[in-house]
Amino acid sequence: MTTVILAAGQGTRMRSKLPKVLQPLAGQPLLAHVVATAVDVTGEAPIVVYGHGGEAVQAAFADAPVEWAEQAEQLGTGHAVAQALPRIADNDIVVVLYGDVPLITATTLNELIAAAGDDRLGVLTAQVDDPTGYGRIVRDAADRVMRIVEQKDANPAELEVNEINTGFIACRASLLRGWVNRLSSDNAQGEYYLTDVIEMAVADGVEVRTAQPYAIEEILGINDKRQLAAVESALRARRAEALLDAGVTLADPNRVDIRGTVVCGSDVFIDVNVVFEGEVKLDDNVRIGPNCVIRQTQIEQDCEILPNTVIDHAHIGPRCTIGPFARVRPETFLGSEVRIGNFVEVKKSAISKGSKVNHLSYVGDSRIGENVNVGAGTITCNYDGANKHRTVIGDGAFIGSGTQLVAPVRIGEGSTIGAGSTISKDTPANALTLARARQRSIEGWQRPQKQPKDGKK
Ligand code: UD1
Ligand code: CA
Repeated sequence: MTTVILAAGQGTRMRSKLPKVLQPLAGQPLLAHVVATAVDVTGEAPIVVYGHGGEAVQAAFADAPVEWAEQAEQLGTGHAVAQALPRIADNDIVVVLYGDVPLITATTLNELIAAAGDDRLGVLTAQVDDPTGYGRIVRDAADRVMRIVEQKDANPAELEVNEINTGFIACRASLLRGWVNRLSSDNAQGEYYLTDVIEMAVADGVEVRTAQPYAIEEILGINDKRQLAAVESALRARRAEALLDAGVTLADPNRVDIRGTVVCGSDVFIDVNVVFEGEVKLDDNVRIGPNCVIRQTQIEQDCEILPNTVIDHAHIGPRCTIGPFARVRPETFLGSEVRIGNFVEVKKSAISKGSKVNHLSYVGDSRIGENVNVGAGTITCNYDGANKHRTVIGDGAFIGSGTQLVAPVRIGEGSTIGAGSTISKDTPANALTLARARQRSIEGWQRPQKQPKDGKK
């Protein structure tokens, strides 16, 4: 089996410098969704027919499982398929997909492939209320498909037909090759229509069998930003419903965006306006508060993420509480029962069991032991303008508020650091270390007085 993805169209109606098939849907290019489904169905790299914006499209998929066929001039869907056919063995079943129709599912494509069987032509059709713009399926009195007529070539009776061509077809390569080679552009648009192969199949005595998509959104094509937004919301709903089906509680399924994958344990709760990116794993009883962004992260069981928290490329151990308004940056590893409070930023750091960084702090390039208390306004000064340095804090240490830890530096186990200290040397275990100017008071000191202005008393 081989999939061919047509993606040579220009997409002028997007009014964007970005080629249409690179426009993002749920954070990924449109074409990436189709490629993923193609690979899902066949286990093989699809052949993408590219044209407009070809270099940008190829660059965006440099590491993807994709083969390329160039269509230098866009002479029609039949001509586009012809560019891919020389690469396909006669015996393969060819499935034609579209780079701008991203919600097609593997389930529906398998129905289409079953309709094609070994020696038939499979066509995916749909019943729609408003068929305007689509090719119409013309059937005979015995309900057999005879041909497809494009909107611009249709007569008034054909325009009344509500069964439309979705564009998706499947057929053995040897048959398709014979027909595609004989296409003509003698029609209203002067294009080589892929749809003309249906009439050729009928003439050759090849059965045309139709299949239908499970949901109408699967066949929605995208030509402009309105359609892109409509498909985005359909995909959002589809992914939210999958979470609901898996037993997740969503405060509002219309207000959770999954731009990647989310795998959840049992009794997970997700509040409104949460965005997930990359691969996210939420274990049992995790609660995500409103307005959080969580990217490429695992959160272990019984954690509570409070509102307005951003977590990126991190691993959060069980029973942690993070936020509100916390920022957990890449390469952060939290052990169990860690508490990260408001306006705290953590980067490239490991924080062990039971430690707390509750208020207004920056912890970067650090290793913090167990049961450490980091006071409000503590900053690890990890960067000297050229290099990053590490801060290591031993178990049970207590860092007073407003402390600067000038890395590289090690705070001994059980160390206490007086508030407002600037610590630039390692501190011994179990001692109090202070590094701040001694407080003094000047008796009888006078504040400067304001002088009266000229002419005024
Ligand atoms: C096509 C079908 C129509 C169907 C509709 C479904 C034909 C002749 N008509 O019409 O029956 O109802 O899709 O949306 O097939 N493309 C290329 N190279 C080309 C021309 C098109 O790669 O030379 C790509 C486009 O980028 C697009 C897709 O093929 O992704 C469909 O082309 P488009 O011109 O939009 O076809 P429609 O007129 O919509
Ligand atoms: Ca179209």
